[in-house]
Amino acid sequence: MQFAGPAAQYDRFMGRYTPTLAVALADAADIASGSRVCDVGCGPGGLTRELVTRVGAANVAAVDPAPQFVEACRERNPGADVRQGVAERLPWADREFDAALSSLVVGFMSDPVRGVREMARVTRPGGTVAACMWDIATGGMTMLRVFWTAVREVVPDAAGESAMAGTADGEIAELLRGAGLTDVVGGALTSHSDYTGFDDFWEPFTFAVGPAGHYLQSMPGEGQARVRDACRAALPSGAFSLDARAWYARGTVSTSA
Ligand SMILES: C[S@@+](CC[C@H](N)C(=O)[O-])C[C@H]1O[C@@H](n2cnc3c(N)ncnc32)[C@H](O)[C@@H]1O
Repeated sequence: MQFAGPAAQYDRFMGRYTPTLAVALADAADIASGSRVCDVGCGPGGLTRELVTRVGAANVAAVDPAPQFVEACRERNPGADVRQGVAERLPWADREFDAALSSLVVGFMSDPVRGVREMARVTRPGGTVAACMWDIATGGMTMLRVFWTAVREVVPDAAGESAMAGTADGEIAELLRGAGLTDVVGGALTSHSDYTGFDDFWEPFTFAVGPAGHYLQSMPGEGQARVRDACRAALPSGAFSLDARAWYARGTVSTSA
């Protein structure tokens, strides 16, 4: 799916989880100074920023198909090599990086196996490929669980986001193995976001960023109001914080390739 809205709207909807999720993914992939790293599906650049902090802008590359995100990522990460493109055809030569990371992207790729194979191609033998997606299957991404539970009070058979690649435990590890990576390990990452109150939770859904917001936009006004009321009833009054679990896996690029 296309991410057509401005970076500022993404920031308020999903980017608010990036500061904690990016640290967790970069830690899981053992990203430390001295590495050259690529962020695939960088969005407005939350993970890119964490990578720049760890290895320096000159050692970071990033790519995304959405032009407004490419622009935002460039502005936010001066000196990084930020390009427009897709995971399935990365605009770099073989073996350019020590690691390729992807946060909340494999489920959006039109061909996730090809995308991960490309991540492996641009990474040197012995280097690391790592990816994460939200835990939709067991509801560990609280914001989305609250939303889709509320939707199903109105539309019981709403499909939600569970068909997206990588959203169940073990799927990303399977994907990495299928793409030829070795020594694949996986697990859960935790992140969180603070909200000033219900309006701060609800308004970003109305921006139609990502599958949840698009689904909301497709509902009639009365249905949208019922979803909003069900979300409100499920959340604390006043300020609150929501936890968000993501599944991740990392693997090693084969030295025999
Ligand atoms: C949920 S956002 C994640 C953005 C960022 N990585 C983050 O963690 O905040 C999904 C991103 O994947 C990008 N995307 C969609 N299809 C893609 C593809 N085939 N290759 C690379 N990126 C893609 C979208 O443009 C969007 O920026």
